[in-house]
Amino acid sequence: MSSSLLDKRLVFVTGKGGVGRTTVAAALGLAAARRGKRAIVCEVAQQERVSRALGGVGVGFEETELAPGLWAISVDPQRAMEEYLRDRIGSRRLSELVLENRLFQYLTAATPGMRELLTMGKVWELAQLERRTPEAAPYDIVIVDAPATGHGLGIMRTPRTFRDVARVGPIRRQADIIHSFVTGPKTGVLCVARPEEMPVNETLQFRRALEADMGIALDAVAVNALYPERFSAAEAARIESLDGRGSVAARTALEAALGEHARARTQRSQLRRLRRETDDVPVLTLPFLFTPSVGLTEWGRLAAELERSL
Ligand SMILES: Nc1ncnc2c1ncn2[C@@H]1O[C@H](COP(=O)(O)OP(=O)(O)OP(=O)(O)O)[C@@H](O)[C@H]1O
Ligand SMILES: [Mg+2]
Repeated sequence: MSSSLLDKRLVFVTGKGGVGRTTVAAALGLAAARRGKRAIVCEVAQQERVSRALGGVGVGFEETELAPGLWAISVDPQRAMEEYLRDRIGSRRLSELVLENRLFQYLTAATPGMRELLTMGKVWELAQLERRTPEAAPYDIVIVDAPATGHGLGIMRTPRTFRDVARVGPIRRQADIIHSFVTGPKTGVLCVARPEEMPVNETLQFRRALEADMGIALDAVAVNALYPERFSAAEAARIESLDGRGSVAARTALEAALGEHARARTQRSQLRRLRRETDDVPVLTLPFLFTPSVGLTEWGRLAAELERSL
């Protein structure tokens, strides 16, 4: 099932805060680009992490190419509204005037979820082969670095909420189109987890909520930052039996080795639990990277892992 993830037009990457959503979204974008696709990674809610991770390349609210075939954008709701109005009203000056009159501030303050709807509208627009943005080239795949699980589901649900509230008119029509696309076959959802108790719990909860709330299945889970298993149980037992012997340096090294062994084992048991409880959802793993920082080179390593599993 996950083999089709790179064939989707729109992929939401979600997961518990800090588990590696941005890293995995970027790696997935690189994997798509390496397959010859034109890919774009979208940050929402102005996190700007993808851009900063590249050391000041300065990806902002414009579509910017980070590597061959890999683009990035930070989605800004106000700009999205401006673009939408320009397209609808057909006049740049008029839409600017509307915005200068604080319509955006007014609408977003008065309408809960408006920022999320505008964000989803822009993400949808990026995923269309016929772009609303004049002269904009289409993308083969749009990868959304979505907010953490709870909010991630919230933002995906927003178009439906607006569709149901606005009984008639252009907002209802537009919201309905976006909702259909998000729940349709061209959209995929990837949940990132760490092999630890809380992120695994959150992944299981998210999968259930996604099905119950949106009627869609999770396409895959990426278990990120998995420690290597360096020692067998027998080797670990032998290390433990050396207890207290040797120089201070040797003892410290042995303790560190045992600590890592214990952690790797705990991770493996959480990974097994996740696999057991997600039934037929593909669960793929990404290694812990022992590097001082994670940037384009490291995304490349993770992209290679993703390409092997997808
Ligand atoms: N496989 C990995 N190995 C080592 N470090 C990693 C790995 N994946 C991510 N990291 C590091 O973990 C931290 C969190 O990763 P990232 O920013 O991608 O997570 P996030 O889920 O997007 O976080 P946030 O909730 O803050 O947006 C970063 O410092 C990142 O460099
Ligand atoms: Mg992030």
